[in-house]
Amino acid sequence: MFLHHFILFATIIITKSQGYGIFSNILDSANTPIKIIEADISLIEEKVFGSSSNLAQFSVQASKPTLHLYYETLCSGCIILDSTQFKKVVSLLHQYVDIHTFPYGGARTRKHSDGTVEVTCQHGPKECYGNKLHACALDIIANATEALLFNACMMPLKSNDESADKCGQEMNIEVDSIKKCANSKKGLDLLVHYGEESKKIVFHYVPYVLLNGKEWRGQDLFSDTCGAFQNPPKPCHS
Ligand SMILES: *[C@@H]1O[C@H](CO)[C@@H](O)[C@H](O)[C@H]1NC(C)=O
Repeated sequence: MFLHHFILFATIIITKSQGYGIFSNILDSANTPIKIIEADISLIEEKVFGSSSNLAQFSVQASKPTLHLYYETLCSGCIILDSTQFKKVVSLLHQYVDIHTFPYGGARTRKHSDGTVEVTCQHGPKECYGNKLHACALDIIANATEALLFNACMMPLKSNDESADKCGQEMNIEVDSIKKCANSKKGLDLLVHYGEESKKIVFHYVPYVLLNGKEWRGQDLFSDTCGAFQNPPKPCHS
């Protein structure tokens, strides 16, 4: 047990010092089994966003399958997937799967010469605002699973302020800071960040799902995620 922790600790130091580079490495080398490093993504993200990152929180298993969702808030296929199949995986398998979402999709980021940054979304400014609400929820809601479920709740409701209010009420989540974030530079910064992360891989449609680093185009995300385990956890058997 002690040795195990020591190895994880050592890995954290390495991955932290390499920052985001490691993230693209994982995605580029989808077939390479660098399991321990994969498990550290969440830690790196926390560090970059400056939210609470401490070693005591770090209790993930080294061999978790990874699930990445690239989406935008107003694409109908994204709405369907996120609020049904993806939500089911989050609800039942969040303890067992390393899940990351990227609310940016097919948006574009332009950096102007005066230093300002502009993001244009496929479905217009309302979608950019929705993407920002999602990005802010991921940043602000301390429990990552709750954040994913909050976003899945907003999806079929257009991911606007009203949806945030409704889902916040249902889930007992304070949404004022999330809305405030979405209306501030912080929201734009987060959206730009998710754009940079999304550009690290190549996809031509959304929703785009990577299951263990491989493109998923199946029918049943839950059973396929269960299929990614050597020893599927309990929820996979019921
Ligand atoms: C996070 O939220 C999930 C879903 O509501 C819950 O099952 C889990 O216990 C929470 N984790 C913590 C550390 O509170």
